[in-house]
Amino acid sequence: MCGIVAYSGKKAACPILIEGLKRLEYRGYDSSGVSLLNGSLQTFKKKGKVKDLENILPKEELTATLGIGHTRWATHGEPNDVNAHPHLSGNGRLALVHNGIIENYASIKEALIKRGHTFSSETDTEVLVHYIEELQSEGKLALEEAVRQALLHVEGAYAIVVIDSQEPNKLVGAKKQSPLVVGIAEDSFYFASDATPIISHTNKVVYLKDGEIAVAELGKELVIRQLSNIEQKLDVQELSLDIQQIEKGGYEHYMLKEIDEQPKTIADGMRGRLNGKEGWTRLDGLEEYSNRISSVKRIIIAACGTSWHSGLIGEYLIEEFARIPVEVEYASELRYRNPIIGKDDLVIAISQSGETADTLAAVNLAKEKGALVYGLVNAVGSTIARASHCGSYLHAGPEIGVASTKAFTSQVTLLAIMALNLGMKRGTLSNTTYHRLISALEQIPSQLSKVLEQKEQIKYIAGEIKSATNALYLGRGFNFPVALEGALKLKEISYIHAEGYPAAEMKHGPIALIDIYMPVFVIATKGGSYDKIVSNIQEVKARKGKIIAIITEGDETIKDLADYYIEIPLTEEALTPLLSVVPLQLLSYYIAVMRGCNVDQPRNLAKSVTVE
Ligand code: AGP
Ligand code: GLU
Repeated sequence: MCGIVAYSGKKAACPILIEGLKRLEYRGYDSSGVSLLNGSLQTFKKKGKVKDLENILPKEELTATLGIGHTRWATHGEPNDVNAHPHLSGNGRLALVHNGIIENYASIKEALIKRGHTFSSETDTEVLVHYIEELQSEGKLALEEAVRQALLHVEGAYAIVVIDSQEPNKLVGAKKQSPLVVGIAEDSFYFASDATPIISHTNKVVYLKDGEIAVAELGKELVIRQLSNIEQKLDVQELSLDIQQIEKGGYEHYMLKEIDEQPKTIADGMRGRLNGKEGWTRLDGLEEYSNRISSVKRIIIAACGTSWHSGLIGEYLIEEFARIPVEVEYASELRYRNPIIGKDDLVIAISQSGETADTLAAVNLAKEKGALVYGLVNAVGSTIARASHCGSYLHAGPEIGVASTKAFTSQVTLLAIMALNLGMKRGTLSNTTYHRLISALEQIPSQLSKVLEQKEQIKYIAGEIKSATNALYLGRGFNFPVALEGALKLKEISYIHAEGYPAAEMKHGPIALIDIYMPVFVIATKGGSYDKIVSNIQEVKARKGKIIAIITEGDETIKDLADYYIEIPLTEEALTPLLSVVPLQLLSYYIAVMRGCNVDQPRNLAKSVTVE
């Protein structure tokens, strides 16, 4: 998600920008930069932390009173100094910072190259500032009009701020899907991704809405227009939040914020990769190696922890739709057992951080043995992403909470798209099933929003079971890995011992554990093995176990059987994990909070296990 800060006023801009970028560091980033306007544009940008940027700033005082700053979370072009923002126009007159993704940047770039533009970075953002330059110089336009005309032809998500060395008192900001706030003070204006960089200067803010452009010119009123050029009434708010609250968007913990982000992050993961209306799926990483992948005889998925759980769901998805044999391996086991891997294998490495040591070692081993390696990673430019031959980024934004939530559902989403894409290519999937699954996937974000509306009920259930010392999670088929994931969530943040099991395995041992003190979480959604899971619930009830069931909405049978239940909307059985996991994430979260645990940084755990 990264961050934007901009300032125009009477004071030196640079210290305000640097301080503001530091306030946004919590959002996660890989590089940063500033552009200062003092007659001409001075731009400083650097891979790494804001302090690395500070180290390259000139020692003499920078007196510019207008500037823009950025912390980047790379989506197009790996993290390095050149790809860091701000990006400049070809004529060096404009500087721009951007949060989001310009989806149609490639076609715009192609057209601009034909008109003589050259680019120094690999980013989508640089294309936008050149596009604004092209329109401005062609039409002799004011900055805000050039920005407006450019954005009318841009597809994707953006929050941008642009400055023009020939209009030295003006900041122009615009927003669509990525956040942007304007701060209004006596004699200065601020832009930022949220209020944290602004709140120490003024509490008067305007939250831009999608499709709005803001023009902040010193000595004049702030003007906000829609892309249609219709001026909007200013909705100035007086903030009372404190910094701490704003950093987490008003949430108490990053984990809950990231659970709530899942409708958006799943939608972001699907963006440009499937289309129900036109009936297609597309993963660039697969296209790049389509010949090789078309003849792959086996897929090996290597991962750790939650990523290993999403890999298990990937096995069910790919075998169901693409009929390719899949093996899912703990990376830590795969790397040491001298596995039989060869050129007919596709190894998929799944990793949120892209830095997990065991997964990286498995990637390198697979490459040595001649396999093609596909990285399914969240952190752009991370080690595993760069070590893989090809891959797909999750586009889930930084995941700060140690317990992985939105990365899991984004991984499952990408694996579902991959399974459908491979199935279509191999002819193992009927057209009807293909189109039915694509449109079901497109419904998931809105269905997930409905699940998230049940927080009060879920919090109540958490209160009922927070004192348990053990717990059992049961699921079948696509939801067996969800049982494993639910158990991992509970144990890693609430420190309650929990185990996930295939429901049918109960009678092979775990049923001996059932008593009145053992909460049993059962994912019992409608699907092929529904009747069997109902029998498993009855087996537990017969031994006085307490049942917390995740059910398909309207399922009266299990409502009568379970002690507690949480309903999720009906979807394709293969996609139920995207919905069934979320009540388990929330249950673990609320139980951990009630037990006074450190939810975002649980004891003994690190967000990325970069050691063996
Ligand atoms: C999951 O909640 C844990 N934080 C942990 O199991 C994590 O999934 C595992 O360490 C793998 O991390 P990665 O996805 O970054 O490789
Ligand atoms: N897509 C842009 C890039 O990769 C902006 C990423 C961001 O939001 O920081 O540089």
